Amino acid sequence: MNNTTTKDRLLFAGLFALALVLGIVSDRKEQPKTAEDFQPSPFVEVMVAEEGTGVKLIRSDEWAEQYPNQYATYIMNDENSEVVDYIAENPYIKTLYEGFGFAVSYGSARGHTYVIEDLTETGRPHKLANCFTCKTSSFTEAVLNDGVSAYAMAFEDMEAQVTDAFGCFHCHANEPGVLYVTHPYVAAALGDDLTKVNAANLTCAQCHTEYYFDPATKETTVTYHGLSQFSPDDSLAYQNTLLDAEGNLFCDWVDADTGVRKLKVQHPEFETYMGEGSVHASQFTCADCHMGKTTAEDGTVFTNHYWVSPLDSPEIMANSCSLCHQDLEGQVRAIQTATRERENEIGYALEQLDKDLAAAIEAGTISDEDLENARMAYRNAQFFWDYVFVENSEGAHNSRLTNHCLDKAQEYLDEANACIH
Ligand code: HEC
Ligand code: HEC
Ligand code: HEC
Ligand code: HEC
Repeated sequence: MNNTTTKDRLLFAGLFALALVLGIVSDRKEQPKTAEDFQPSPFVEVMVAEEGTGVKLIRSDEWAEQYPNQYATYIMNDENSEVVDYIAENPYIKTLYEGFGFAVSYGSARGHTYVIEDLTETGRPHKLANCFTCKTSSFTEAVLNDGVSAYAMAFEDMEAQVTDAFGCFHCHANEPGVLYVTHPYVAAALGDDLTKVNAANLTCAQCHTEYYFDPATKETTVTYHGLSQFSPDDSLAYQNTLLDAEGNLFCDWVDADTGVRKLKVQHPEFETYMGEGSVHASQFTCADCHMGKTTAEDGTVFTNHYWVSPLDSPEIMANSCSLCHQDLEGQVRAIQTATRERENEIGYALEQLDKDLAAAIEAGTISDEDLENARMAYRNAQFFWDYVFVENSEGAHNSRLTNHCLDKAQEYLDEANACIH
């Protein structure tokens, strides 16, 4: 009896060990996943679209049959239609952006499929086709085929050529599933560092980046140069060395009542997320947090093309974030509230600076040297404030870099005030 039991036990133990090795013990499978189970996103090298080949884009709707899941989720972006009026929410920006289009009309971002509508309906003035850079694949096609001259085309001429809005072509060229950089300025700016950045970050970086229009060629240009000159500080230092066609310090517009040559920052999500201080930059790509994987009814697992907050994606939260985070939503809202408070405090202080500087100029109580220094410090302060104000995660992508920018804005603000008072 005893012998048999021991033998049975041994046999059972042996089978159990084997089962463990094979990983088929259901008990173990049902354990909740933890940080130990986390696997960083694999590295994928990006493809670069060739220029001057006469490529003809395949429209998004032409892929609907072949890639029904990706297409259906892409079309879901239509549902993301809410817009917040930033001017009503933050009245001081009317002063900070005065003389520039954003003081007239400035709504929050919404779904990708709305980009053309949002562009043609903003109250902001349009001049050239370069406005279409981040809005339509048809413009990407024109740049690839016609080169730099496409950027200087008249807005209306380009508008007449639009066949696809925000299309598959931006990220996949004509090969859905393969990740491409189709906007040449991103590949040019990163140079040899291009192959060091995960492709799923680069596809987004084509638009979610700080850029300016080259004063001579009107080409869309990003302000970083490789990964070693990638920070907001580098971006400002670079823009402070640029000259416009008349040989003056480069600016996006001149503020009429203070003479400050102002810069407008545009959504630097790529630089912020990839920048110094980012917790997750080596683990997650933009797509891991904003696309994720979904299982279709027939069991097919595919990449979800509905671009939203990770907090609004039950799959991303369950399969990934919750391995380590207990209350991610609480953490994100706390970061954003703190960011918004500092943003507003500095925003109102900049508005006051604007009034004080204009008054000092009007009264003739400021020396030429102080005026020059005050203008430069004001320009720099607004740049660092704007870098945070227009970054769409409001601190969540990289709270440390965000606070660094707000610290710099405050420093330059104090410097400008010291020149006046
Ligand atoms: C061709 C340019 C372009 C590319 C490429 C691009 N975006 Fe966007 N994205 C935009 C624009 C423009 C908006 C704002 C749309 C609007 O409000 O009209 C936007 C908005 C968004 C939003 C906000 C939607 C909302 O509800 O506020 C998210 C999230 C987003 N993009 C994520 C991504 C991710 C992730 C990638 C890469 C996989 C990416 N985008 C690639 C241009 C682009
Ligand atoms: C803003 C960039 C972007 C746009 C626009 C875009 N995709 Fe994707 N697509 C991606 C990313 C990122 C992946 C994930 C690749 C990976 O995980 O390696 C992907 C993956 C895919 C895949 C591979 C299979 C899968 O689901 O992972 C297919 C097929 C695909 N996309 C089709 C399309 C189609 C069709 C369109 C247009 C309707 C489109 N994509 C538009 C970024 C984009
Ligand atoms: C580690 C996860 C993570 C990664 C990676 C990430 N983001 Fe985000 N992103 C967030 C969170 C969290 C928010 C704040 C969402 C909210 O407010 O609900 C956000 C917000 C945004 C928004 C504003 C969306 C909205 O609903 O208003 C955009 C646009 C965006 N991210 C683009 C990007 C781009 C482009 C990249 C890559 C360069 C990127 N993100 C990488 C987590 C991430
Ligand atoms: C392997 C563990 C791990 C996973 C998985 C993980 N995080 Fe984190 N996350 C951390 C750690 C550690 C920190 C830094 C400490 C902290 O702030 O909680 C952090 C911080 C953050 C922050 C604050 C960043 C900042 O700059 O202050 C955000 C936002 C965030 N994570 C979003 C996400 C999202 C979205 C996901 C899911 C896609 C995710 N995390 C998945 C470990 C993880």
